[in-house]
Amino acid sequence: MAIQSRILGTGHCVPERVVTNFDVEKMMETTDEFIVTRTGMRRRRHADASVSASDLAVPAVKAALADAHLTIDKIDLLIMNTITPDHMDPGCGFFLQGKLGMANTPVIDIREQCAGLIYELSIADQFIKTGMYKHVLCVCSEVLSKRIDCSNDGRNIGILLGDGAGAVVLGPSNDPNVGIKSSILHAEGTHAKVLYTEAPGTAMGKKAWVEKDDIDKGRTEFRMDGKTLFEKGVEWFSHSIFESFKKNNVSFDDLAMLIPHQPNLRMIEAIAVNVKVPKEKVFINVEDYGNMASACLPVALDQARKQGRVKPGDLVLLVGFGSGFVWGSVLVRL
Ligand SMILES: CC(C)(COP(=O)(O)OP(=O)(O)OC[C@H]1O[C@@H](n2cnc3c(N)ncnc32)[C@H](O)[C@@H]1OP(=O)(O)O)[C@@H](O)C(=O)NCCC(=O)NCCS
Repeated sequence: MAIQSRILGTGHCVPERVVTNFDVEKMMETTDEFIVTRTGMRRRRHADASVSASDLAVPAVKAALADAHLTIDKIDLLIMNTITPDHMDPGCGFFLQGKLGMANTPVIDIREQCAGLIYELSIADQFIKTGMYKHVLCVCSEVLSKRIDCSNDGRNIGILLGDGAGAVVLGPSNDPNVGIKSSILHAEGTHAKVLYTEAPGTAMGKKAWVEKDDIDKGRTEFRMDGKTLFEKGVEWFSHSIFESFKKNNVSFDDLAMLIPHQPNLRMIEAIAVNVKVPKEKVFINVEDYGNMASACLPVALDQARKQGRVKPGDLVLLVGFGSGFVWGSVLVRL
């Protein structure tokens, strides 16, 4: 019988420091009223200056391993996704692997922005199905507070950003009904500049990949066309949901919970109206944690499990969307 992979454990970690919209008002030219009406966010967590993405990931991994009743030596592969790496290179996964004491365990470092977990689960699923690896650790960690540009050019995205980390342990399922039913991946690079950071980079027509002028002109900061992102996001999120339903011959009646990436509340509400999903079937935590990029999905999944919003045997649809554009879904029976 073919091997199917399942979720064995989940964990997450968010910094203790709560940053309200009124705190954000002190950082940049904005208001609580603007943030609440346009994004639905009220607070987010920001890490202390000493904390890196791999630091934040370590407790999330430990919680996921404890949940899976596994020790780190049982992990055969680490997959890591972040847009806030410890250093420019090598990938953040290597720093995390070192901190976790996983000597000789292979690391795959991916850059799928807010859809990181969807790609990670899909990659892990292929390795487990073929029997190449038994236990795969998928980690998404973001310290976005270090990438906030408080100028008026950066405030449209700056207000959204929160820090967090989440981890998922995947392994073989001994029940054919339990596990990943499908993973569907998409990307569309012609819109890559809708949300991007120009520098450092080799495509600026200069000898050096970053100069003082690039820093002075804000080219090292996120730049976002929020309206285009909103429109494309709603379209592809909605498409992903029905695409997964069609592939698996299921509907919202079969689904216990839709867990979407948490870009902002208005966007999630627009998607919910578009696809006509009952509100109680959508997991939302964005008011309290903000947009933690790739960490949103594993944090939400862990909270949904630990809060009892989803339980063993439930069918859950994870949907991710991020800059690139990159998007996709994973349908899983817990
Ligand atoms: C970011 C977002 C809230 C901005 O709302 P919007 O109505 O599209 O805003 P615009 O960028 O068109 O700007 C409208 C006005 O608000 C201003 N503005 C933008 N950000 C602001 C802020 N944080 N505070 C106050 N004013 C702000 C703009 O300067 C502009 O002013 P102007 O009309 O005088 O030029 C909205 O586009 C959005 O939610 N987009 C999706 C973003 C997202 O989810 N990204 C996550 C990626 S996974």
